[in-house]
Amino acid sequence: MTAASVSARLGFADAMFYDRARGAALPRCDFGELVGDTIEHVRSEDIFTGMRAIVLGVPGAFTPVCTTRHLPEYIANADALRALGYDRLVCVVPNDPWTVHRWAEELDPGGCIRFLSDGNLAFVRALGLSTHVEAVFLGECSKRYLMTVADGVIERLKVEREVTDLSCTLTSTLLVD
Ligand code: BEZ
Repeated sequence: MTAASVSARLGFADAMFYDRARGAALPRCDFGELVGDTIEHVRSEDIFTGMRAIVLGVPGAFTPVCTTRHLPEYIANADALRALGYDRLVCVVPNDPWTVHRWAEELDPGGCIRFLSDGNLAFVRALGLSTHVEAVFLGECSKRYLMTVADGVIERLKVEREVTDLSCTLTSTLLVD
């Protein structure tokens, strides 16, 4: 399935329709990652092929809900999530790689989560999951979502109606739905 057709499947306003994403291949794009002083281009295929991953989409680095509630809950449960069969925890962030790196260092010094910059919004737009949050000057950014991926194919996608909500993107969703 092409990126365009994934987006077509996801072009619905109501969260319940995100179930249509099941079975779609993830769009291919490059993420950015600061390694030393260098911005590396990381191919999405190299992140998701041959493994089972949890992907967290967040509206922005250093935002309060993400920083104090959403990501810490995954970091605290990282071992339990591995025991459930997830090989990799990924957070896709719509900010530049320097900001993403700094946020990751502060939030997750143990490196439980792989933080990737989607500052060009290539991934989130291809998924049809970008939004605009102008009230707090985030501009175009990402909806908050939880996705599980097996060998590059979407298993589950849950998207919050409001970017500050945590109704379906905490770890509890992985146990019940
Ligand atoms: C947050 O805290 O994650 C957040 C706050 C306002 C807008 C978007 C995100």
